[in-house]
Amino acid sequence: MMYLYSKTKVAGICFIEIRNGVSSGIFFRCQQCPLCLQQVPVPLQGHHQLPDTHYTSIIMTRQKPWNRVNLPVYSISSAGGSRRNMNICTYVSAVSMQPKRMMVAVYAGTQTLELVRRQPHFVLQLLAAEQYRLVDLLGKKSGHTIDKLGRLNKRGLVTDWNGFAILRDALAVMELKMVTIVPGGDHELFVCDVVAYKNLNDGEVLTLDTLRAHGLIRI
Ligand SMILES: Cc1cc2nc3c(=O)[nH]c(=O)nc-3n(C[C@H](O)[C@H](O)[C@H](O)COP(=O)(O)O)c2cc1C
Repeated sequence: MMYLYSKTKVAGICFIEIRNGVSSGIFFRCQQCPLCLQQVPVPLQGHHQLPDTHYTSIIMTRQKPWNRVNLPVYSISSAGGSRRNMNICTYVSAVSMQPKRMMVAVYAGTQTLELVRRQPHFVLQLLAAEQYRLVDLLGKKSGHTIDKLGRLNKRGLVTDWNGFAILRDALAVMELKMVTIVPGGDHELFVCDVVAYKNLNDGEVLTLDTLRAHGLIRI
């Protein structure tokens, strides 16, 4: 099943029905016929039934290749001077097995970048699927303007680990120490040693697909 996009909005969903292993046609479960832009019933009837040649172009996604993947969602817990902060990050990857190293890309202009430059020793938290609501606070607002830790503390969501504030409901935490910083464009890539880690909870990993399903991101 693929989403069909118009220039500005999702126009509907195309799907191919398979019966006994054989495609019985393509259907447009949707609000608009892509040819005449009328409301159409399901399955498509009359001229809304498109010839085979249309199918490929209709069902081909318009998502950019780099937005077609599902990625785990993390949060950096940073501390620099008296300030502490948390963000949301997905540009994260393991880059070495021995020594165990992770790369975290940190966005220009953020409070997190300011803090991890000041103290390049921080915690990467793997978030749980049930924590999706935190994305609005941690990933869409800046510690430059609000005290995120203060808000999280008020809600009883924070505990301490190795001297860092962490979310008690996160699945796992990794204590990272920067080895090198690589300029990456609008992100700086922090290549870090994993100096400690802890699994905190069982559960499903929060991913971009969960955020998509809850309408928290559009990509
Ligand atoms: C789904 C999602 C993924 C993100 N991925 C990253 C990332 O990989 N690196 C990063 O620095 N910021 C990322 N951000 C943006 C930061 O979380 C965002 O700019 C945040 O408001 C920064 O807060 P701060 O100024 O308190 O550090 C992401 C945001 C969202 C919603």
